[in-house]
Amino acid sequence: MTKKNDLAKETAGLLKPWLEKIKDKKLRAAVVRTYELALRKSGYKNAKDLRKIPFSLLVDCKGVSFIDHTLAVTHGAFHLAEAQVKHFPKLPYKINYDRLIAGALLHDAGKILEIEPDGKGGFRKSRNGKLLRHPMSGLVVAAEAGCPDEILNIIGCHAKEGEGAPKVIETIFIHQADFATFDPLVMLEKGTLVEEKK
Ligand SMILES: [Fe+2]
Repeated sequence: MTKKNDLAKETAGLLKPWLEKIKDKKLRAAVVRTYELALRKSGYKNAKDLRKIPFSLLVDCKGVSFIDHTLAVTHGAFHLAEAQVKHFPKLPYKINYDRLIAGALLHDAGKILEIEPDGKGGFRKSRNGKLLRHPMSGLVVAAEAGCPDEILNIIGCHAKEGEGAPKVIETIFIHQADFATFDPLVMLEKGTLVEEKK
């Protein structure tokens, strides 16, 4: 296992350029601490392993890793928020960008515990993952790392667990950006994604 400082440094490197955009130093540190804790509880030896984990076991990820997915969701959620800020005459709610970025970087942190190597070069659902889906395990680790309740709302409610539950606005943007990366792959697999003519 990589040493504590190195693990934090490695994680910060993986979450570039979004991590530095979080202005609140305490929140930025809590994001890194959540990854550190999740990695320590998991079987992964260092943060760079997160580049190898598929972002989901439910679909063929076509080479999109946990980190690729996390950064794409963060990017997408940020721009969903920006689109409304730019085009609505008056935004009916306040968007907290620190919360949006931190929450997006953390929304799937529980997958570090949910997905484990199968020993044959692939990945499988861990025992922890069978007991607790990633929104729940991620929430527990993030709480332990000192993340505020609003971030826990994002982690806990970004997927089906959050259906019908009260949410902060940032959870909604993250949920939409998340499923925009997942649904097309599912549809591709089912043959329901209508593709461009060859
Ligand atoms: Fe996700």
